[in-house]
Amino acid sequence: MNITVIGTGYVGLVSGVCYAELGNKVICVDKDLGKIEMLQAGEIPIYEPGLKELAEKNSTAGKLAFTTDLNDAVRQSDIIILAVGTPPMPSGEANMAYINQAALDIAEAMNGYKIIAVKSTVPVGTNERIRELIGTRTSEPFDSISLPEFLREGSAVMDTLNPDRIVIGADNQSAADTMVQLHRPLTEQIIVTDIRSAEMIKYASNAFLATKISFINEIANICEKVGADVTKVAEGMGYDKRIGQSFLKAGIGYGGSCFPKDTRALIQIAGNVDYEFKLLRSVVEVNQDQRFNVIRKLETIFNGQLRGKTVAIWGLAFKPNTDDVRDSPALEIIQYLVENGVKVKAYDPIAMENFKALYGKEGVKWCDQALDAAQDSDALCLLTEWDEFAEVDLNLLQSVMNQAILIDGRNVFNEEDLLGTAFVYYSVGRPSLNKGVKQQIPVMQL
Ligand code: UDX
Repeated sequence: MNITVIGTGYVGLVSGVCYAELGNKVICVDKDLGKIEMLQAGEIPIYEPGLKELAEKNSTAGKLAFTTDLNDAVRQSDIIILAVGTPPMPSGEANMAYINQAALDIAEAMNGYKIIAVKSTVPVGTNERIRELIGTRTSEPFDSISLPEFLREGSAVMDTLNPDRIVIGADNQSAADTMVQLHRPLTEQIIVTDIRSAEMIKYASNAFLATKISFINEIANICEKVGADVTKVAEGMGYDKRIGQSFLKAGIGYGGSCFPKDTRALIQIAGNVDYEFKLLRSVVEVNQDQRFNVIRKLETIFNGQLRGKTVAIWGLAFKPNTDDVRDSPALEIIQYLVENGVKVKAYDPIAMENFKALYGKEGVKWCDQALDAAQDSDALCLLTEWDEFAEVDLNLLQSVMNQAILIDGRNVFNEEDLLGTAFVYYSVGRPSLNKGVKQQIPVMQL
C-alpha cells in the first residue's frame, strides 16, 4: 500500500519505518526541514534502538522516503496516517493545533479516495471533528479511522513489529478491512470498534498502567513503614493472572511524553462531561509526590542540612534506553536540590544534551562519566535504571565519593551487591536493605 505518515516524532517515525518494513511504500512528512534533511541523510533525530538500521535498509530498498512536501506525499498515497504531536496545554487538555493544521493541509491535497487514520492520541470525538474539518473543505471521498498507538519508547521498533494488539476504530466496513489487511502481518489480535471507543481505549490503557504504577508506589511507601519488601509483594501479587507482573515496579514515579499528559487529558475529558475522575486524580497526585521521596530520604540522612552538600545524579532520562527527558522526575528533583543550595553533578549515558536543553538553568555540573559525577559527592541518587549503573563496582564507587551515601530510586541494587560496602543505602519500599541509618524514615512534608 502507499502510505503517508505525517509527523516524524517517536510515533510517526517508528510507524513509518515499520510500515515500510512490512513491504509498503511509505513517505514520512514533517514541517521541520532540518529534521527531514537529517533523515534524508540517514541520520535519526531520536535515540531508539534498531530504528536507524531499519530506516537505512528500507530507504535503500526504495520503500521509505522523507519530505516536507505534504501535498505531494498525500497525492501519492491511499492511506494517510496522522502522527503529529498533541502536547498538553496548561489546563491538561491536549493541544490540537498541529492536528487541525495537518487536517487542513490534507484537505487541500486530496485527489481521490483516501483513508485518513489518526495515530496521535486525541480526545474522544476528535476523529469526527477532523472528518468534518476535511469534509467541508474537499469534495473528494475519504474515510476516517482511529488507530491508537501503544508503542513504548526504548523498545518502539520491537513493540510496533510485535504488538499485543491493534485497535482500529472505524464506521465503514471496507475502510476497516483495508486497515486490518495492513496490520494483519503484525498480529492476529486486531480489535475493530467504533471510533469513539478506539479513542477511549488509548486513554483508558495509559490511565490504567499509570494507576498500577502509583498503586505499587504507595504500597512501597507503606512497605517502608511496616518492614515489608515491595519487590516480593509485587512478585507475589503478579502471579495472580488477573493482576500480572508488569508495571508493578516501584520507583520515583512515571514520566515521559505519554502517561503524565494522557492522565491529565483524561481527567479533563471527563471534566468536560461533568464527571470527576477521582481515582485518576489521586494517581497523578501520588505520582507527583513520589519523586520527592528521594529528597525526603536525603533530608533524613543529612538531618535537614542539605545546603552546601554535593549530590550526584545518575540518570536524567525518564526511563532507560531513551534520550527522552520530557516530564522526567529528574527535572523536579534537580530543580529542588539546586534551589536549596545543593551542588548537583549529573550524568546520563544518552539523555544529557536533551536534559540540558530542557532544564536550561545554571547550577548543575554536567559530567561525561558516571564516576566523574560521583567523585567527591556527599550522596548519589540513582534516578534512571540504565544497565551501566547496575554494573558499577560499588567498592570503587564508594572510594571516589566523599561520603558513601546511595539513594537508589529504581531498586537497581540488591543485598548481595551491597555486601562488604559501607554504603548508607536507601531504595524504594525495601526497608530491610536500608543500611547505615538506624532510624525509620519519617514522612516529612515538603
Ligand atoms: C507508555 C505506554 O507504555 C505506551 O503503551 C504508550 O503508547 C506511551 O506511554 P512509554 O512512556 O514509552 O510508554 O514508557 P513506559 O515503559 O510505559 O514507562 C512509562 C513510565 O513509567 C516510565 O517513567 C517508567 O520508569 C515508569 N514505570 C513503568 C514505573 O515506574 N514502573 C513500572 O513498573 C513501569
